[in-house]
Amino acid sequence: MHPLSEDMLEFHAATIPGTERVLCEELRELGFASVRLNRGGIPFRGTMQDGWRACLQSRIAARIQMLVARFPCRTPDDLYYGVQGIDWQTYLSQSQTFAVSAVSREDALSHSGFAALKVKDAIVDQLRKNIGARPDVDREDADVRVFAHIANQKAAIYLDLAGDPLNKRGYRKVAGEAPLRETIAAALLRMAGWDRKSPLSDPMCGSGTIAIEAALWASNIAPGLLRERFGFERWANFDAEAANALRLLRGALRGASRGTMPRIVAADQNADMVEAARQNARAAGVKLAFRTHDVLVNPPSGEKGFLITNPPYGQRLEMAPDFSRHFAAMCSRLHGWRLGILTASPVYQQAISAKPLHTTAIPNGGLDCTFLVYDMP
Ligand SMILES: C[S@@+](CC[C@H](N)C(=O)[O-])C[C@H]1O[C@@H](n2cnc3c(N)ncnc32)[C@H](O)[C@@H]1O
Repeated sequence: MHPLSEDMLEFHAATIPGTERVLCEELRELGFASVRLNRGGIPFRGTMQDGWRACLQSRIAARIQMLVARFPCRTPDDLYYGVQGIDWQTYLSQSQTFAVSAVSREDALSHSGFAALKVKDAIVDQLRKNIGARPDVDREDADVRVFAHIANQKAAIYLDLAGDPLNKRGYRKVAGEAPLRETIAAALLRMAGWDRKSPLSDPMCGSGTIAIEAALWASNIAPGLLRERFGFERWANFDAEAANALRLLRGALRGASRGTMPRIVAADQNADMVEAARQNARAAGVKLAFRTHDVLVNPPSGEKGFLITNPPYGQRLEMAPDFSRHFAAMCSRLHGWRLGILTASPVYQQAISAKPLHTTAIPNGGLDCTFLVYDMP
């Protein structure tokens, strides 16, 4: 299929657990069709160009995958012949590389590595027969990434449009010790109910991810515009006509950005981190207010707004003894503020004087974290 075809396709926007609801909301707002709330990822429908647009515009999705086939699958042969039913020349030429990963819950294919091998063999055998040559496998930097999902006696074969995961926006020039994934930061802003107009502060900003994502969102800058290339641009069917259509789409999205922004403050006690945040914000093309100070000494002040932050965790970062308790006490004094705190520590919920509006479990950096949202009375 040519990328400019108007045929409707099925997509899957992958995301981390806990962020499905806000991703679903985001994709609906962006105008995609048949968006459904689903655990582990959000299905939607659209043309192939809609899939590109999702890569460019979604702030929360980790990957956008396009369904290329779904078929009954009970045995390794079912998988092999089902995958052979796909026209792989559309996506792969002999000079391109590919990689396959699989998740299988089917008894006869319970070993996911074996299922991936069957998919790979089917692709290689088809191309060898049709063009007399086979593309190589490259696990690190494949041109075409294939995902097979096998469960309930059915297989679904997807191609990944993103390439590098979508959190790799391209603006993080300097990382801190424990940077938050950009897609998680974007999800937190939505989960906290930020309206893109109220002042926002991250007093422990590290490399600045939350503040930068807030500024991008408030300015309506599509996060994918900062990326040089997506996976779908490396497929065989991405010809000059498709490249031109993508240029036009990028231009239209660029034209939709807004100049006005609320006040967004990025602060940290570590001057090197503030400098990192400054460089990253410059690379992202957004303006923030930067401060170097200890949040316990200089709590957020001035116009009330949103404080959204990801405090240091004992397990990962050096922190002052009893920091969490002191920060929680400070939060309890932020009357009239909306707070959003992503933490692995139970101390905040015990020590903040209000009841959270909602709490959401979100895995982050190998830790079971919780995002706590409060309206401070
Ligand atoms: C988990 S990191 C934040 C990571 C950040 N969200 C990012 O994406 O890079 C926590 C940050 O809190 C800062 N920090 C620790 N204690 C602080 C304090 N008392 N005042 C201000 N910042 C502090 C650390 O320097 C560190 O950069």
